[in-house]
Amino acid sequence: MSDQLFPVPEAIAAKAWVNEATYNAQYDRSLKDPEGFWREHGQRLDWIKPFTKVKDVSFKGDVHIRWFYDGTLNVAANCIDRHLEKRGNQTAIIWEGDDPNESRNITYKELHGEVGRMANLLKAQGVKKGDRVTIYLPMIPEAAYAMLACARIGAIHSVVFGGFSPDSLANRLQDCGSTCLITADEGLRGGKKVPLKKNADEALKASPSVKSVIVVKRTGSPIAMEAGRDVWYHEEAPKLSTDCPPEEMNAEDPLFILYTSGSTGKPKGVLHTTGGYLAYTSLTHQYVFDYQEGDVYWCTADVGWVTGHSYLLYGPLANGATTLMFEGVPNYPDNSRFWQVIDKHKVSIFYTAPTAIRALMREGEEPVKKTSRASLRILGSVGEPINPEAWLWYHRVVGNSKCPIVDTWWQTETGGILITPLPGAIAAKPGSATKPFFGVQPVLLDNDGKVLSGATEGSLCLADSWPGQMRTVYGDHQRFIETYFATFPGYYFSGDGCRRDEDGYYWITGRVDDVLNVSGHRMGTAEIESALVAHPKVAEAAVVGYPHDIKGQGIYAYVTLNAGETPTEELRKELVAWVRKEIGPIASPDLIQWAPGLPKTRSGKIMRRILRKIAANEHNALGDTSTLADPAVVGDLVDNRMNRG
Ligand code: WTA
Repeated sequence: MSDQLFPVPEAIAAKAWVNEATYNAQYDRSLKDPEGFWREHGQRLDWIKPFTKVKDVSFKGDVHIRWFYDGTLNVAANCIDRHLEKRGNQTAIIWEGDDPNESRNITYKELHGEVGRMANLLKAQGVKKGDRVTIYLPMIPEAAYAMLACARIGAIHSVVFGGFSPDSLANRLQDCGSTCLITADEGLRGGKKVPLKKNADEALKASPSVKSVIVVKRTGSPIAMEAGRDVWYHEEAPKLSTDCPPEEMNAEDPLFILYTSGSTGKPKGVLHTTGGYLAYTSLTHQYVFDYQEGDVYWCTADVGWVTGHSYLLYGPLANGATTLMFEGVPNYPDNSRFWQVIDKHKVSIFYTAPTAIRALMREGEEPVKKTSRASLRILGSVGEPINPEAWLWYHRVVGNSKCPIVDTWWQTETGGILITPLPGAIAAKPGSATKPFFGVQPVLLDNDGKVLSGATEGSLCLADSWPGQMRTVYGDHQRFIETYFATFPGYYFSGDGCRRDEDGYYWITGRVDDVLNVSGHRMGTAEIESALVAHPKVAEAAVVGYPHDIKGQGIYAYVTLNAGETPTEELRKELVAWVRKEIGPIASPDLIQWAPGLPKTRSGKIMRRILRKIAANEHNALGDTSTLADPAVVGDLVDNRMNRG
């Protein structure tokens, strides 16, 4: 850990929305008078019927969370229509293709027309307010049109990352009963094609609720179209009007569902609603990135993740910003790509993940140094703890030692950023997410649920709600209560561990549950285990994370084969391919160790603590193994691990 302090640069502080003096005053006010604070900031949106009620929250009992709940508005109108008069000809979205020769600017006026058309197409396909629409698209402008079109007509979107397998897509389609799917013929990433329609066709076999499929043409490769179900976007959309009146939505009407992995069971449908979500993402986008008129803002996240929802699309567009959407990957055609894109479009705010920084750092400074990056003002990091070494490299090499870094801690569930430096207000410590945003009350608790004070370490909880918080697990409110409010009654439990230092800075230490964070992607160990045991030769599997230089965490699987099966290199490869097929490439195990037996307690519970230590090569720190049903198992696993090197 680094305790070096990077003061706020004066040039940034002078013009920032929030500076050192105003941060403290505003933070205090936001806790003392949350209603007043959020009543004021709720005004940043255009309401059809203004709200009079601000907050109605209980973290106890049935748990309910409502914000601005008697107001009505439309998210698409807030992200597009209200900007037309002043900035109709300003670029809303800069689209940068996978191929460096392909890019396009879409103005707010154009965005209005495209979204209106897509909205009318959805209506023509029978989609109504409240219906669920699943979006399985690559990073192309149509992904933004589709999300905003749903918002415009009051349909609930569920975006599924294009890297997920047909099975994962089918599970998500069925869980929320989607009636419509929007996909593309193929995606294009790093010069490689991703067979989206083919995957979708397979998923659709198991998804009877889907009545219509809208297909965007991206690569033009031949694909199958099913008459009566599938329509081409480029054929149907031009027939329709660009004008689609926005639906009047209550602040608490659902905006989207986004599936995320937890420590148990299948991925959960995190539900976000309309008014609070948009107010929170737009305010945090403005303050955390110190967004100023004229900035060109680039968030590298895919729209399949929450960062792509809140800080590629909704927050920036609600603020009338110019947001860049990148189809490709950081190392294609070469390792300078990010920095070339920054120079090409004069990007001033850049927001990416530590895993990308670590991968690029490995390539040395030269690919960065050969670009100018003179336009950069603010850098951001999200998705996992950023190690001080990567932070320092990002600051010195990418930012030429002049750009503040905002290390933003948040989750799919939180909707927006909760703990982060504000670039004009809070001095940075590399590796620390620093201080809470306005209205956010972090609390650290010990295992007995006791609130810890001062410099300490514990489970990170939130004592009160903020407008961007998730409202429920789609279709399973009980699971919402049990997952987030049962461990520490009266608090929202994040699942993360955290340290607070003497200066009140927060340092996220990583998940304390069975959730892995692989390259900034959340994976449930239970999901990977159930994929493995679905293989006919596998009897049992236990999955843990282990430290990985680039990915942060790698996936380590202990596999017990059925009696009579022989562990071979071939079978190992087959199992990796199997998990890729079952879940998607992001879930591929990095290492598989054959385990004749797994360490279990006498009651049959797998002791993951021991498996984590063995995977991390910390054989001398296994702790107490005397409660195991068969302690000899451990020696065997350690020997095998050692043999692997
Ligand atoms: C981790 C992504 C440390 C954390 C927005 C959290 C972080 C999980 C940070 C949520 C950060 C995210 N520092 N850890 N700045 N940001 N995390 O839902 O473990 O994909 O619980 O949301 O990522 O991942 P999710």
